[in-house]
Amino acid sequence: MATVTLTDGRNGKSYEFDILSPSVGPDVVDIRSFYQQTGMFTYDPGFTSTASCSSDITYINGEKGELRYRGYNIKDLATKRSYLDTCNLLLVGHLPSRTELTAFDLEIRKRSFVHEGLKNLFYSFPDNAHPMAMMSSAVSALSAFHYEHLNITTDTQYQVMARRILAKIPTLAALSYRRSLGIPFIYPDIERSFIENFLYMMRAYPSADTVIKDVEIKALDTIFTLHAEHEQNASTSTVRGVASTGAHPYAAMSAGINALWGRAHGGANESVIAQLEMIGSVDKVDEFIKKAKDANDDFRLMGFGHRVYKNFDPRAKILKQLLDELKDDLGINSELLEVAKKIEEVALTDEYFIERKLYPNIDFYSGLILTALKIPKSLFTIIFVIGRSVGWITQWIELKHDKEMKIARPRQRYTGPVNKKL
Ligand code: SDX
Repeated sequence: MATVTLTDGRNGKSYEFDILSPSVGPDVVDIRSFYQQTGMFTYDPGFTSTASCSSDITYINGEKGELRYRGYNIKDLATKRSYLDTCNLLLVGHLPSRTELTAFDLEIRKRSFVHEGLKNLFYSFPDNAHPMAMMSSAVSALSAFHYEHLNITTDTQYQVMARRILAKIPTLAALSYRRSLGIPFIYPDIERSFIENFLYMMRAYPSADTVIKDVEIKALDTIFTLHAEHEQNASTSTVRGVASTGAHPYAAMSAGINALWGRAHGGANESVIAQLEMIGSVDKVDEFIKKAKDANDDFRLMGFGHRVYKNFDPRAKILKQLLDELKDDLGINSELLEVAKKIEEVALTDEYFIERKLYPNIDFYSGLILTALKIPKSLFTIIFVIGRSVGWITQWIELKHDKEMKIARPRQRYTGPVNKKL
């Protein structure tokens, strides 16, 4: 086993740590015995250089701008397979045959209803409640309506739980949306496919026809696939942290939803559109790029930059291509699209962004497509939740099988007062 040696310059003492190799990507130094050997902690706020687990699910090469789910390139999955194909791949480890996909689809459809009592929860919220507040509460409340599913221990139970959550989240999302408008709830229509059913539950109105175009279903299917999984990002690490305490999956998923809400993470898509609307025209782009570069101005270019991608986020490239393909069919807001393209063009030639390797991320273009699908800004992060729910539950299941996993409990560098007397 290869090792690295650390020498303490203060006393010349040396410590040896094993190097563990991945199937692809950076090697890792096994520092599990670091404190026991050295009496010191490692220090890594934000975990910029820390691997929290071993995982078979997703691989990201940040330098090359590459993303793979279970080894498959995201571009192939997003352009040649469906979101439910991807869900099956993530959950069970292989792409489904046609028969398997039909069975999987049916299992999701039949679980898409929620307990009638759960709808009352939505009525307890004020009209202007943010859909994310309703969604995280409703997912946590599922534990009260399905208490018989809380202590699950077998893979069969995990897989049923995964299908239950995948099926109910779009229904809860549509309930959150309709509650925010004060309009009647619409039940799932299990004759419709996963994506079509979501758009139906969002748009249908009693005694009126519901128009849903194939191009809209394709666009949303692609968006869900691109958002499905992304290794140990902040919300997935939150799900794993909660799962490591032995809490049930609804608690972990609700925590993940709340972590995703932050504007530095999943909440960025909502901020991007607000920012494009604020900038308003291409001739004001330079003024905002200047603000984004100003260290004394906390303004940031939303949808730009990424902890891992130091090249184009491959998902942003796929969304940009989808925008160009569908802009006429979907009726994309061309002014905002021009502003977004101008921002990208200016930023990618500006030293500040080049030096810091800041590129458009998944959130930069997604909002333009969601706006064209007549999904309001307040629901953009909910769309992220629907796509990512499969990634969270897949990571939750992997953690349950992980023999190395212990309760997540980092240490700290204490800088507070010592030995204070009363
Ligand atoms: C997602 O982790 C994932 O995988 C997340 C995600 C997923 O699928 O789960 O990909 C989804 O969350 C995408 C990111 C969405 N967030 C945004 O678009 C918000 C805007 N971006 C930034 O807040 C930022 O880029 C982060 C939060 C995404 C990444 O932050 P880091 O890695 O902690 O980088 P940093 O804050 O240390 O920035 C490094 C430098 C700093 O400048 P200096 O102090 O070195 O001078 O780059 C600057 C930052 O000020 N910088 C930006 C910037 N992002 C970073 N400057 C202007 N505009 C920006 N957007």
